[in-house]
Amino acid sequence: MVTARSEPDAGRDRLPALAEVAGLETQPTPFLAVDLDTVGENIRRLEGAFAGRPQRLRPHAKTHKCSALARLQVAAGAIGMTCSTSDEVAALAAAGIESLVLANVVTDPTRLQTLAAIAGTCDLTLVVDSGVTARLASDAAREAGTMLGFLVELDIGMRRNGVQTVGEAIELVEQSVDLPGLRFEGVQAYEGHLIDIVERRERRAAVLASFAPAVELIHALEDRGYASPRLTGSSSATYDASGFLPEMREVQAGTYVLMDATYRELTPEFVPALAVVCSVTSSRANGEIVVDVGTKRLAFDWGVPAWPGGAAEYVGNSEEHMQFRHVSGPAPAVGQRIALTPAHACSTMSMYRLAFGCRDGRLVDELVTDGRDPLA
Ligand SMILES: Cc1ncc(COP(=O)(O)O)c(C=O)c1O
Repeated sequence: MVTARSEPDAGRDRLPALAEVAGLETQPTPFLAVDLDTVGENIRRLEGAFAGRPQRLRPHAKTHKCSALARLQVAAGAIGMTCSTSDEVAALAAAGIESLVLANVVTDPTRLQTLAAIAGTCDLTLVVDSGVTARLASDAAREAGTMLGFLVELDIGMRRNGVQTVGEAIELVEQSVDLPGLRFEGVQAYEGHLIDIVERRERRAAVLASFAPAVELIHALEDRGYASPRLTGSSSATYDASGFLPEMREVQAGTYVLMDATYRELTPEFVPALAVVCSVTSSRANGEIVVDVGTKRLAFDWGVPAWPGGAAEYVGNSEEHMQFRHVSGPAPAVGQRIALTPAHACSTMSMYRLAFGCRDGRLVDELVTDGRDPLA
């Protein structure tokens, strides 16, 4: 992932104020806070990018695992939600979201049983990439007496799930289309290996090239008589490339809603809305700062967090501590609260049972991450 960091624009960015929200003064640090006004702006900005276009948003719930945030996205126009786990599917279905895509291949029998049961309560589609996974999904749906939609995943370069060629994809559709309990929906293709190309034009060109086989597959399926198979994929960093393809039907962008220091470099039109609020435990005359959050409560898988206004630089971390070096402005006082922007919102969000939803400097909601694995 990208490692360079620049701070969000002052003025547009309400994150620093999350350290001083009325109603959270006695909340022990570290905790997660979300600025809901910024969330609303991010949602409207992406919906606006698709106004007048045929594609619809199906935002990826892996970013927040939170049905309250998913409801905001659906209320603003999303056609439904994308999920990465059966726990997310269960939470969103229970919250009344009527159309869900599980964008992952599932083979675990208990999870498949759960999904097949949920398919009796909402429109649920999952992804297959082999005859075995299609058969497992079919068996689960047949046993539950329900129908699961299925998408064939085509690997367009990420080397994660997905069949490897257009020919294999067509063969899998033809093998699976008549399986009991399954309903053919279309194709999933995701360009996750290209989202961090920093130069936007270069990113766009690479993404469009990577989607050529997916577009070819959609047309090949149409030529074989499959009625408007849907193509679903894209991301917060590539929505204006793959998301604008005429063949694309659903855009699975996730991070745009909360944003983080990594995506801020890639798509500055969206603004960070999520902070880990921590306390300064040491602030020394030589500029060394220590805060009370470490790797157990802030994800480092995509790099280091950003200090508000770039006033301190990251130095190091341990499980419950992080060190910074003060570089500009007034030195932080011991005990002062700081709102750090994580490098990876999705991994950080899933470390917490809830995030505090704030507006205008006030606590307004508890955003429960009800889509987390209950064992996590
Ligand atoms: C299948 C799938 N679709 C879409 C996305 C896009 O998410 P984001 O907008 O966070 O890049 C992801 C990210 O992990 C994904 O795995």
